[in-house]
Amino acid sequence: MSEKKNIITIDGPSGVGKSTVSRKVAAAVGFTYLDTGAMYRAVGLHLSRLQIDLEDKGNLGRVLEALTLDLIPAAEEESDVQVIMNGEDVSEAIRTPEMAMVASRVSADAAVRQFLTQVQKNYGAAGRIVAEGRDTGTVVFPDAAYKFFLDAQPEERARRRVLQLQRKGCRVDFVEILAMTLERDHQDRNRAVAPLRPAEDAVLIDTTEIDIEEVVNRILAVVRGK
Ligand code: DC
Repeated sequence: MSEKKNIITIDGPSGVGKSTVSRKVAAAVGFTYLDTGAMYRAVGLHLSRLQIDLEDKGNLGRVLEALTLDLIPAAEEESDVQVIMNGEDVSEAIRTPEMAMVASRVSADAAVRQFLTQVQKNYGAAGRIVAEGRDTGTVVFPDAAYKFFLDAQPEERARRRVLQLQRKGCRVDFVEILAMTLERDHQDRNRAVAPLRPAEDAVLIDTTEIDIEEVVNRILAVVRGK
């Protein structure tokens, strides 16, 4: 077996608290936070603006080849990463419930996944990252030293998403967000390529009844070998 890489992966379904937990873990251990979902959102935004049909493989390939993505970690621990796509700051534009659905749809495409998996591997080549997403422990960094899979009841995840969006000033409806959460779960878990599932060697944490600090503490206890 290949040597374990100095990488922590944190996967799980939408709204489980992965981003907040990952940012805190990264800050605590001094690693860089890698938000792979932001990349799928950016590609989703790009393809929908250009009205690229995922079935049009030639066009899709050309568009992906020409795409540049830069993720700049935020200065404050609470903020999302800044996403620069082909020189444009799309950080705000990608953080809507609609773009989450688009990202989930385009993320089922094999060419999109192959492209972003390589971008993510490049980010992680030097190690010292906390990667967050759906397949970071199974596909992107199978040799990561520490893998975690967070889960929670869909209603609790929808409740957290609503609070998160409300804090940003968005008007959202719980029933609608719950429906989107369930639909994304279905799409992300059932796609043919790199479906959402825990790596065999991942530590599973059900966060339904525990708060963010407790999740972070459990992860840090494993990483620090306590
Ligand atoms: O984590 P997020 O909500 O920003 O992710 C948006 C979508 O991107 C998610 O519904 C599925 C997809 N995604 C993925 O397929 N693989 C990843 N590693 C990260 C996200």
